[in-house]
Amino acid sequence: MQIDEKKLAEYYSGAPDDISLDDVDLTRIPRHVSIIMDGNGRWAQARGLDRTKGHVAGVDSLREAVTTSVRLGLDVLSVYAFSTENWKRPQREVDMLMHLFATTLLKELPLFHQENVRLRFFGDIEALPAQTRNVFEEGLDETADHTGMTFALAVNYGARAELTRAARLIAQDVAAGIVQPQDVDQALVESHLYTAGLPDPELLIRTSGEQRLSNYLLWQLAYTEFYVTPVMWPDFSRWDMLRAIRSFQGRHRRFGGVVSA
Ligand code: FPP
Repeated sequence: MQIDEKKLAEYYSGAPDDISLDDVDLTRIPRHVSIIMDGNGRWAQARGLDRTKGHVAGVDSLREAVTTSVRLGLDVLSVYAFSTENWKRPQREVDMLMHLFATTLLKELPLFHQENVRLRFFGDIEALPAQTRNVFEEGLDETADHTGMTFALAVNYGARAELTRAARLIAQDVAAGIVQPQDVDQALVESHLYTAGLPDPELLIRTSGEQRLSNYLLWQLAYTEFYVTPVMWPDFSRWDMLRAIRSFQGRHRRFGGVVSA
């Protein structure tokens, strides 16, 4: 996406000591950044608050991450908001999260309009409570014509479930004679993933210091650079995004090959 350098410089004024906009190469910003937003519960507990307060604070970080990504000209920002395993959390927390997703999305629609952001979901949103599903569908409809950054929310998402679903869909097409077994290739698998049509993430950020994938985008992250920060998600700021991109730009990506001399 196009970068408005004036807006970007304004957005990034008042830099802390260790990082500024000059530390990143604006011509080499990753097209797709994905984030595992982790640490909301610990952030709240460290302040003597209920875990759910951490999720509320996490919404502010997410809003900032969307704006930051638009300013930096990303094509895609995706975030892991709720996994297929998160249903195991206490019912009260699950209910609160489902409600928070719906109310947040409704509240942020003006921002998506203003910034020309197109919404997308990774995961089985059909299985969500009706209120949440309805708001998500409204968000999809309302932003379908937007041509700016894609903002993808992974909700009720699990990579194993996604790959299993793709296998099932392809098997159905083979059984129906629409696809021949010898025509099943990587492109066909990709076209049956929730991420169909999007570039793979070039950079994956995980907050709160945990170093695992937690069943996230197992196919799409095959060659992605990881950046783990100890910062808890509610404290993650536009500066942390720059730190992550600076780190990414210092890597040598080889995709299984060798670096040419
Ligand atoms: C991980 O922290 C966070 C979540 C499971 C929920 C993420 C949700 C938000 C940031 C709210 C965003 C709103 C929308 C619209 C997507 P955790 O609870 O696993 O924290 P812990 O590891 O410290 O327990």
